[in-house]
Amino acid sequence: MAIAYDIAMKEAEPELDGSAPVVVAEDLRKTFGSHNVLNGINLSVNRGETLAVLGRSGTGKSVLLRLIIGLETPDSGSIRIHGQNIVGLALDRMGEIRKKMGFLFQHAALYDSLTVAENVAFPLVHHRKDMSGSERGERVKQLLAEVGMEGNLAKMPSDISGGMQKRVGLARALALEPEILLLDEPTAGLDPISSGEIDDLILKLQRERQMASIVVTHDLHSARTIANSLALLDQGNVVIEGTFEDLQESGIGFVKEFLKQS
Ligand SMILES: Nc1ncnc2c1ncn2[C@@H]1O[C@H](COP(=O)(O)OP(=O)(O)O)[C@@H](O)[C@H]1O
Ligand SMILES: [Mg+2]
Repeated sequence: MAIAYDIAMKEAEPELDGSAPVVVAEDLRKTFGSHNVLNGINLSVNRGETLAVLGRSGTGKSVLLRLIIGLETPDSGSIRIHGQNIVGLALDRMGEIRKKMGFLFQHAALYDSLTVAENVAFPLVHHRKDMSGSERGERVKQLLAEVGMEGNLAKMPSDISGGMQKRVGLARALALEPEILLLDEPTAGLDPISSGEIDDLILKLQRERQMASIVVTHDLHSARTIANSLALLDQGNVVIEGTFEDLQESGIGFVKEFLKQS
């Protein structure tokens, strides 16, 4: 018993090697009813790197992010965060690990009934109980300045543009100083100029903060701008992973077709 417990504890111990990947998913499978959404996904992201996950609508990109955040459980496979498998982890432990993750959802990027400042303060109110109100206010201002939104503290989400909402969502995602940033379609629904601005902002934040980032997108141009590595999903599999040049040089029919249509 004691030995088994020791081994279990060792497995739960995060790896401390700084060069180890921050997020590693192995053979992830997820089915809803009879629908196989993910059929054995492998991916890995290092500190300071951005992986873009590309693919058509309905290929399981959002499901993949939800698995990494721990909002869904895979049928099989593992997700290691700093070496620790989060699959099947107790809720309180998962809560601790989730604090290291900043995320921006595809829809409902902000709480409609809260001001811009209250939206960004939200994670701090819940997870940084050590902070005083004035410290929190300062932090919110800093975060909003970082995304170019310092002049909009009292506005409601409905009073600002889609691009500005994404900026505020990014500021909120950064509130707890995450080591991992997960963005689901950060430029979807934006005009090309606003999309470009969000891409530039993501690049800037990534340079400054050196997070391990995964950005889900169906926008190849955006992926090419912000990511070191691109993974193209189809029918629950990673068809190819590599640089944009690797994708361009690929002889795989699906990859050629995707590039032609994007
Ligand atoms: N909670 C769920 N229950 C049932 N089916 C789901 C659920 N979440 C996602 N799906 C299905 O999984 C597939 C992939 O969804 P999603 O990851 O949202 O695709 P996308 O690549 O567009 O982000 C879709 O067919 C979707 O309907
Ligand atoms: Mg999606």
